[in-house]
Amino acid sequence: MARVIFNRKISSDYYRMRILCPEIASRAKPGQFIMVRITELLDPLLRRPFGIHRLCHERDKHTDNNSPSCIEILYKIVGKGTIVLSEKKKGEGIDLMGPLGNGFYLEQNIETAVIVAGGIGVAPLFSLAQVLKGVKGKNTSRDKLTIFIGGENRKDILCLNDFKKIGARVVVSTIDGSLGTKGLVTDLLVNFLRKHSPLETKNLKLFGCGPLPMLRTLSEIAFYKNIPCQVSLESRMACGVGACQGCAVPTEINKEGDRVVLYQRACKEGPVFDSTIIFWDYKSILLKV
Ligand SMILES: Cc1cc2nc3c(=O)[nH]c(=O)nc-3n(C[C@H](O)[C@H](O)[C@H](O)COP(=O)(O)OP(=O)(O)OC[C@H]3O[C@@H](n4cnc5c(N)ncnc54)[C@H](O)[C@@H]3O)c2cc1C
Ligand code: FES
Repeated sequence: MARVIFNRKISSDYYRMRILCPEIASRAKPGQFIMVRITELLDPLLRRPFGIHRLCHERDKHTDNNSPSCIEILYKIVGKGTIVLSEKKKGEGIDLMGPLGNGFYLEQNIETAVIVAGGIGVAPLFSLAQVLKGVKGKNTSRDKLTIFIGGENRKDILCLNDFKKIGARVVVSTIDGSLGTKGLVTDLLVNFLRKHSPLETKNLKLFGCGPLPMLRTLSEIAFYKNIPCQVSLESRMACGVGACQGCAVPTEINKEGDRVVLYQRACKEGPVFDSTIIFWDYKSILLKV
């Protein structure tokens, strides 16, 4: 069974947990997630999904090769499951399933990338930045990886120094203006794109995770600017392995010239999707059903 290495409170509502789980860590890639069994008791019954925040090695050698032996999750306390999770102690066993889902699709040579993170959506994006930077920050120059992090207020801005340490350029916005620029994180992206010519952004790739309205705006920007964009959706999940259909999201595909809505499972075909295929008006469809 996996074991808790630490479970630290990092600010009022947020925790970071490192878990020793060589089998998961050695196979995991950015954008994938784990399902955590919160308790051996009946409540909460369902496992809870958490993105893989960071891949790391513990000082002891737990694997024969050079693969990571631990993962970290970064989580926000929102309800019963996350409260119980925050009470887990160092050395405690923890029941995990993973790595699950598809993860981000990473081409061989990504020249320039912009990551847009909203609130706790930053959690799975750190492992993505680690990989984009070649973990030690030597693969790409600082200007080649930019992270825009947004939140309601300064307490929601996480991982600022972690991103800086791996050599990324970090820009922050908050709704109340308590840190960085006042406003939406997607406004930072709009300004960035205004300052760079289409030639400079020719090979740009966008990645995002955060609240749905943020992802929708990000996708619209990407669509109008014709920039490839992948978004990670955090739909409510029950099984996490494709069996219950509870996490299905409407996507639009082209079938014989017609636009057809096809439901895809966020836990199996996602959680990462090409932003152009998400049917962003799905809330109105669901309301009509
Ligand atoms: C693929 C995936 C990856 C995720 N990664 C992370 C992560 O890295 N860190 C993190 O903190 N959270 C993450 N989440 C969300 C996390 O799973 C939920 O916050 C958690 O399950 C809540 O459990 P709970 O028992 O504390 O809250 P509950 O009692 O289940 O819910 C409390 C409140 O939170 C809301 N809520 C619960 N789940 C979600 C959700 N998925 N999206 C939006 N609102 C929700 C509920 O509507 C309710 O208002 C992820 C979700 C998915 C699907
Ligand atoms: S959560 Fe059951 S199918 Fe995705």
